[in-house]
Amino acid sequence: MSELEKEIQRRRTFAIISHPDAGKTTLTEKLLLFGGAIHVAGAVKSNKIKKTATSDWMEIEKQRGISVATSVMGFEYDGYKINILDTPGHQDFAEDTYRTLTAVDSVIIAVDVAKGVEAQTRKLMEVCRMRNTPVMIFINKMDRDGKDPFDLLDELEEELKIKVRPLSWPIDSGQQFKGVYNIFQKKLDLYTPSKQTVTESIAFSDINNPALEGHIGNSLAEKLREDIELIEGVYPDLDMDRYLKGQVAPVFFGSALNNFGVKELLDCFVKIAPSPRPIEAVEREVNPNEEAFTGFIFKIHANMDPNHRSCIAFVKICSGKFERNVNYKHMRFNRLMRFSSPTAFMAQKKETVDEAYAGDIVGLPDTGNFKIGDTLTSGENLHFKGLPSFSPEMFKYIENADPMKTKQLQKGIDQLMDEGVAQLFTNQFNGRKIIGTVGQLQFEVIQYRLLHEYGAQCKWEAINLHKACWIESDDAEEIENFKKRKAQYMAKDKEGRDVFLADSNYVLMMAQQDFKNIRFHFTSEF
Ligand code: G4P
Repeated sequence: MSELEKEIQRRRTFAIISHPDAGKTTLTEKLLLFGGAIHVAGAVKSNKIKKTATSDWMEIEKQRGISVATSVMGFEYDGYKINILDTPGHQDFAEDTYRTLTAVDSVIIAVDVAKGVEAQTRKLMEVCRMRNTPVMIFINKMDRDGKDPFDLLDELEEELKIKVRPLSWPIDSGQQFKGVYNIFQKKLDLYTPSKQTVTESIAFSDINNPALEGHIGNSLAEKLREDIELIEGVYPDLDMDRYLKGQVAPVFFGSALNNFGVKELLDCFVKIAPSPRPIEAVEREVNPNEEAFTGFIFKIHANMDPNHRSCIAFVKICSGKFERNVNYKHMRFNRLMRFSSPTAFMAQKKETVDEAYAGDIVGLPDTGNFKIGDTLTSGENLHFKGLPSFSPEMFKYIENADPMKTKQLQKGIDQLMDEGVAQLFTNQFNGRKIIGTVGQLQFEVIQYRLLHEYGAQCKWEAINLHKACWIESDDAEEIENFKKRKAQYMAKDKEGRDVFLADSNYVLMMAQQDFKNIRFHFTSEF
């Protein structure tokens, strides 16, 4: 294996996703502690956008500058280079999370043992499913009373539409929580509340060994044996191939707050989670081990310094090695660019790097050259796909509130949309601009940023819309008929694609019924 291949093989790039409050931040922090990337608990947490920010989003503005530090958290663990990609906790920024998921090779889902599968988890899992991303599940807060673990496994399978395979199993729960039997490593990991760690980890290859009683008492030992027997009977052994295809998810139990089960999760994760995987470009599949560098922009973080319009564009390296001061081709501009101060992210620190490998994320300081989805290569003509836009859930007309600043408004809207803050649709009937978002907060952010960064003022006007669907058909005539019939509801997205803006679910269903040769898509990539 070449040096390049070795470097790439040892990379694990992933995101932790969860419904707010399930413990994503706490889990991230504990992983960083294991990697020695931070030394005190609370370091990540303090960067978190406060949950109360729904109306007080000025707080978010303040946090934005800081949160770039946690956008990517890289660290070394046990010979592996781990990159955790942070996703915004606030659901109004879900679109950001969807895009981040296009840059990861696998995912860990944190689930609260008491709450089970929640709305946001379900939605994020749908995105994972679209891309067959391998997932592992961490059932968190085992120190609290929660659902029965078997019921929870059923719930996971049903709600997340994925098969599961427990690789650890809890011994009692809540106040009586004793620890877990680590099925993956054949170990008994015992827990003492308040010790904030696994207090005893005993190799235990045979669950029938009578020594078990000595550790956890007669009734729990008996229960554990029954449970494990049931698990072995019901759930086939973890099939690695199916895990890598995103068809079956290993499940771990623990408590992030108490640092219980986290190391076990991490140890298994580095062993089984995939290193960078081949990525589809329009032209061909790109293998990470190819010598030539390729990558795409999946996130743009704006205005680190409010006095300069500067951004950081985040590149996921898809293949080869990225080097500082080397010319790479910006596909959309069809010209060469080189980067003198690319940054890598090692936990809290941001530093200039000379080289980075497939799987890594580098930040490129930018003054408006990049759009989300842009491809960079060593020269080959390639376009990575797979950065879909999802139908927004909220829509508003955007209107100019200061006629003297029309140009500024135009520019501001354009740039914010390139950055992926929200989606713009232009109604083909009346020419009005419609902004679509996944949450109310994004409207406030846009208004504020237009004013503070572009000196432009906008106002919002209500519009009653249900969904945006990208339409497509092999039947040109039918498309034309449809567009005529729905003229008032036809729009173009930023790329000039036809979008049907349905004002209710009923209208959408009728349209689907009446126009059988038209395909209606709820993401822009099909
Ligand atoms: P999030 O990023 O997914 O939104 O969740 P976060 O880690 O912020 O955790 C949400 C709350 O759940 C926090 O409490 C956190 O301390 C708690 N928590 C996380 N893991 C566990 C666990 O294993 N057991 C228990 N009992 N609680 C856990 P908070 O009160 O909102 O915040 P804080 O003030 O305690 O920091």
